[in-house]
Amino acid sequence: MAAHVVGGIGTSHVPAVGAAIDHHKHDDPYWAPFFDKIQPAREWMAEAQPDVCIVVFNDHASAFSLDVIPTFAIGVGDCFEPADEGYGPRDVPAAEGHPELAWHLAESLILDEFDMTIVNQMPIDHGATVPLSVVYGEPSAWPCKVIPLCVNVIQYPAPTGNRCYQLGKALRRALDAWPGDERVVVLGTGGMSHQLQGERAGLINVDFDIAFMDQMVRDPEAQALVGHTEYLRDAGSEGIELVMWMVMRGAMDTKAREVYRMNHVPTSNTSNGLIILEND
Ligand code: DHB
Ligand code: FE
Repeated sequence: MAAHVVGGIGTSHVPAVGAAIDHHKHDDPYWAPFFDKIQPAREWMAEAQPDVCIVVFNDHASAFSLDVIPTFAIGVGDCFEPADEGYGPRDVPAAEGHPELAWHLAESLILDEFDMTIVNQMPIDHGATVPLSVVYGEPSAWPCKVIPLCVNVIQYPAPTGNRCYQLGKALRRALDAWPGDERVVVLGTGGMSHQLQGERAGLINVDFDIAFMDQMVRDPEAQALVGHTEYLRDAGSEGIELVMWMVMRGAMDTKAREVYRMNHVPTSNTSNGLIILEND
């Protein structure tokens, strides 16, 4: 048996989207077009019915302060509460973990020479809770178990796109070796182009975002070799979050099919994108 990786989703994790969902802004003229564009993702998730979502995201100094900055971390706990990011925790369900599978992944990844930090307890911030809200809406409990996988893209130096892509491949090897038969969706979150600080604050580059999606799907090996300087120059300082989509891509078949994508501007300061890939 093996865990069945039914799909991969790349999605932005904009905090204002979480606030718009929590405050029922679906019909607000600013938000309505965005919510129309994520509806197909909700329908796809309802159909895919994953037992487990592996959510790849960067902690934004919520669980890890600048005292300790793991490059890659995996949550092996049985429950992850929403983090208080300054306005109180979002009113969303806590995420139920999958300790057995998460420990298997940790063991497999580390023996495969990816030196994961093992996290028993952590709150999860908008990096993880917003993508769950995007794909599930507002259920009273998340319909799947959640394994958080954190990547440091906050403090220089972040891992390379290629390292993230290779981590995704190692993740897939680990899932293929799992003796259970869970249906798994891998979410790579963050991006797309945005810069929240400094002289270029507000930068958005939709041409880059579309080209990123195209190459990430069709030629992930080439996309993996795109360097930090290119992301920073073309997608802004926070555009580097897109390396986390490469973890998702690595976990998918090389020939994975694109079944949906959307781009939307504006949502807060970020060029918002979402893509869904399916394995055969
Ligand atoms: C925004 C986007 C992010 O990815 C983030 O982590 C924080 C803020 C934004 O667009 O406002
Ligand atoms: Fe972010």
